[in-house]
Amino acid sequence: MAPDGDEDCMSGDATERARLSKRRVLITKSWISSTEAFALLLAVAIAALAFVGNRSAARKNLPPGPKGVPFFGNLFQVPVLRPYPKFREWARQYGQIFHLKLGPQDVIVLNSADAADELFVKRSNYYSSRAAPHVAHDIMSAGQRLVFLPYDKEWKVARKSLQSAIGPGPSKKLRPQQELESRVVLYDLLTHGDRSVAEKQVEGPHGEVPESHWFAIIRRYTTSIVMTVMYGKRVHRITNNPYLHKIYDVLANFTHVGQPGNYLADAFPILRRLPDVLAPWRIEGRKMHEWEMELWGGLLDDIKHDMKDGIFRDSYVGNYLKERADKGKEEAPGCGLTEDGWLRDKLLAYTAATVLEAGSDTTASTMQSFILFMLSHPHVLKKVRDEIDRVVGEDRMPNFDDEANLPYFVACIKETLRRRPPTIMGIPHLADQDDVYDGYYIPKGSTVIGNVWAIHMDPVRYPNPRAYNPDRFYKEGQPTPWSSGPDTQGRDHYVFGWGRRFCQGSYIAEASLFIVLSRILWGIDFEAPIDPKTGNSVVPDINDEEETFTDGFVSIPKIFPVKFKARSPKKAEIIRKSFEEAQAEWQVWGLATDER
Ligand code: HEM
Repeated sequence: MAPDGDEDCMSGDATERARLSKRRVLITKSWISSTEAFALLLAVAIAALAFVGNRSAARKNLPPGPKGVPFFGNLFQVPVLRPYPKFREWARQYGQIFHLKLGPQDVIVLNSADAADELFVKRSNYYSSRAAPHVAHDIMSAGQRLVFLPYDKEWKVARKSLQSAIGPGPSKKLRPQQELESRVVLYDLLTHGDRSVAEKQVEGPHGEVPESHWFAIIRRYTTSIVMTVMYGKRVHRITNNPYLHKIYDVLANFTHVGQPGNYLADAFPILRRLPDVLAPWRIEGRKMHEWEMELWGGLLDDIKHDMKDGIFRDSYVGNYLKERADKGKEEAPGCGLTEDGWLRDKLLAYTAATVLEAGSDTTASTMQSFILFMLSHPHVLKKVRDEIDRVVGEDRMPNFDDEANLPYFVACIKETLRRRPPTIMGIPHLADQDDVYDGYYIPKGSTVIGNVWAIHMDPVRYPNPRAYNPDRFYKEGQPTPWSSGPDTQGRDHYVFGWGRRFCQGSYIAEASLFIVLSRILWGIDFEAPIDPKTGNSVVPDINDEEETFTDGFVSIPKIFPVKFKARSPKKAEIIRKSFEEAQAEWQVWGLATDER
């Protein structure tokens, strides 16, 4: 696709359009010239004609859905930043599949596991593309963000290139690093103590987490893991770490800008033809692209400079650049692929960026939700702690080898993912051809959403779905399988998506959740603050979605205060000692030691 946000990456048509639009900006004196007024009227007229014209006979068989208004369809009925409660309400009303019209765009929403499995997995040949949001993808990401790439050659080459770094086999090799990084989490929580209760800490307007809050400790871990895999660099400090802040700022911005319906230009392609002076989103998108490239391009440049200085960092990007250079492509600037199929720099930078984005907040927020569920379900906390204490004992931390003996704990992680999926409505796919499902017509080009929230709240599949109940996945005396897909058989939840677009980092995510959370339960007591008036613990209400969870397409807990302390002096000693030992290991591996 020719992104119109970045001239480096443009096709001839797009460049010409941009040149004309720039010229128009220069010659425009009044706010809107008569030529532009005409262009706008023409745009609206063409859109209206398209709207009426595509009502063919087949469209009579569209799935049911709420009645919209002419031209805009259901656009104004969808709460842009927090759509999932409304989508669940419609799922209850219309059943396993419903249809919306967001401007000219058809949107099909799948609310049952069967429907999503059938389309995204069994018919994955033509349901594996993306309905990329125009501003977030074409402009802000110069059309290069892996997660939004259409199902084409660029996506296949980029995804394949990642298999050697985060696929099932290589992700096992990452375990020693996850093991060491998890020691740092325990040490940091211990040092943190009651700071986030004693100090007043306020989240920023776009979900910015104060660096002294305990959420930042968890985020450091998840970002450090993916940063090391992608760039061979740890995140070794939390405070005064501009990289870490910027990653989360870019991420928060991306989840808002990318939310379907955020910009009219996302819904009405015709508006994309407007000149810059009438398209403020384009100017905004280009600025955001430059701002993002300071980070993603900066990381790429750093590793290239190091290579020129003879420093090689064993990592996805390092290995890729080396292999590319060995094949004669040391320099490959710009977007897309070289003629012989190598990722050019911008596509490489945004492929690594997708891993950093996809792997950071999703995993961190699941850990934060887990602590929240434990605080609000003390009987579960007691049961899972008893299991860990019985299996692991006082003298050592849990290890990956303990997994088979901790079935209730694994069930708690799975129930956390089910009850509070971070990507609560999945990431939309796109129908590449006309299709029929359950007698309903699905037009080519429809955005197709796997409504994870509605599926996870299905009372037939998960009786009493709002209850946090790990027992639904637990069989006493038997190991709990992860059963998180992509196989459709015996799948227990849908947080990692479907089919060919299934999350590539699910193994890394599950291993991180296992090692960090088992160790926290083993070594650290955590408590919510007490309300002095009532004497009760103040725990955010998991059923109050607006109060407790952020909006955006990655919906995660808002910050909440917790006190941490070692469960025993002996455990405190083990935690401190293993943190020190980790420092020695980092040095052996040639990685930065922790600075506090
Ligand atoms: C609890 C943690 C995580 C959750 C809930 C999650 C969820 C998802 C979802 C829903 C998708 C889209 C699937 C679809 O389109 O059907 C996805 C894609 C992806 N995830 Fe994850 N993810 C997590 C952790 C990770 C980690 C740790 C990594 C990397 C190490 C990662 C890498 C990716 C990549 C590269 C994609 C893009 C796939 C594509 O578009 O082709 N994810 N993830």
